[in-house]
Amino acid sequence: MGNHSVWSSLIILLSVFLCFFSTRSATVENYDYPYLWDQVPGSIEDLPVKDDQIIMDPWDYRDRLSMYKLMINHSAKYFTQFGINNTGNVFWALATFYGKLYVTGRCDNPSNDLVNNSPEKENFVLTKSGWSGISYYVAIPFFLSALKLNFFGPLPYQIELLPQEERRSDFCYSFDECNASYPQMMAIDLKIFEYLQSREKTSNNAENPTYNTDMETIIHYTWSGHQAGVDVGKPLFYDKSQFYSAGEKDFAESFLTTIEFLEAANYPSDFKNASDILLGFPHRRLTTGDWLIPGWDFDKYEKVLLTAVKLISGINSISGGAFLNIWKTIMMSETARKDAPVLIKIMFDFPEFIPLDIN
Ligand SMILES: *[C@@H]1O[C@H](CO)[C@@H](O)[C@H](O)[C@H]1NC(C)=O
Ligand SMILES: *[C@@H]1O[C@H](CO)[C@@H](O)[C@H](O)[C@H]1NC(C)=O
Ligand SMILES: *[C@@H]1O[C@H](CO)[C@@H](O)[C@H](O)[C@H]1NC(C)=O
Ligand SMILES: *[C@@H]1O[C@H](CO)[C@@H](O)[C@H](O)[C@H]1NC(C)=O
Repeated sequence: MGNHSVWSSLIILLSVFLCFFSTRSATVENYDYPYLWDQVPGSIEDLPVKDDQIIMDPWDYRDRLSMYKLMINHSAKYFTQFGINNTGNVFWALATFYGKLYVTGRCDNPSNDLVNNSPEKENFVLTKSGWSGISYYVAIPFFLSALKLNFFGPLPYQIELLPQEERRSDFCYSFDECNASYPQMMAIDLKIFEYLQSREKTSNNAENPTYNTDMETIIHYTWSGHQAGVDVGKPLFYDKSQFYSAGEKDFAESFLTTIEFLEAANYPSDFKNASDILLGFPHRRLTTGDWLIPGWDFDKYEKVLLTAVKLISGINSISGGAFLNIWKTIMMSETARKDAPVLIKIMFDFPEFIPLDIN
């Protein structure tokens, strides 16, 4: 209890400090769709058919992106009241993050040279990369769960995922295969689609019907599925895969810890809010030195994100995980959750908050 109030005070102090500074900051408007978004299929009819089968390769950047696009497009009707052009869709955070991982060279062959991010094979996401292994378990189980529940409607042909020989046993390529190894994860990933399918129309406007989607609930299901995937993927790939440098590996671990703070706060995973958080995601892999002092080529947002991630995961690690646990307890209160996005956004958005010389 005593411990609890110390942490509560610390968090309140931090909030006051950040809110004070937020008044003198400008907003940032810089939102991008994931790389190649407009070029990948977003509806079942647009998927290429071969020999009466639709084959998707989860190791092709475009096919994995297309899985996200199918989920985003086919769930659009449940999010009409949360933003124009489907920007309120909760899957955006996962799709934009995946795009970021790819364009920043983090799904690439780890032995490639660091500064020149040219992919080894155009549009391929490699099993050797730790990031792409973890991100596999975020994207694919959601997609397989949607298929399992016929979320995309009746399919003209069966959809199969193309297995890759390399590290075959570390990945699962069908719902049943994944469910045999990770039933808990699959049960969590099914929830979001079951929830959406159970929604009812609240308006019969023929053009734009709305459904009784509860944003808090749906964001919670998104983050639970994300975390379930990370919990499966991290032990499989964190030590056995390459992260290019010790600095990048530490960053990956710390970043994933920081995301847990966002998840506990039920941070909105819609297009705009996700883009805000990812604004400072480092544009290239880190060297070991970058984790200590970010290189000259990182801009102020990247430096802020790195500092925030280091600070949050550092305090958590020094406290033996108590920081996250207390945060989770505090975030059980609806009022705290309401304030949290603003707090988190400020921490990530505005470099002048960090009392360090970062420029
Ligand atoms: C979304 O799916 C519908 C069919 O369900 C399709 O007509 C439309 O073209 C798709 N949109 C995109 C951007 O792929
Ligand atoms: C609507 O969303 C699509 C991506 O799904 C994007 O390509 C397009 O530019 C957006 N349109 C507007 C008007 O923002
Ligand atoms: C997944 O596996 C669990 C445990 O074996 C089983 O109880 C459950 O019915 C399976 N789920 C589906 C949708 O097949
Ligand atoms: C995105 O975050 C802002 C606060 O930063 C909030 O006002 C808005 O409602 C959020 N979007 C959604 C869809 O929750």
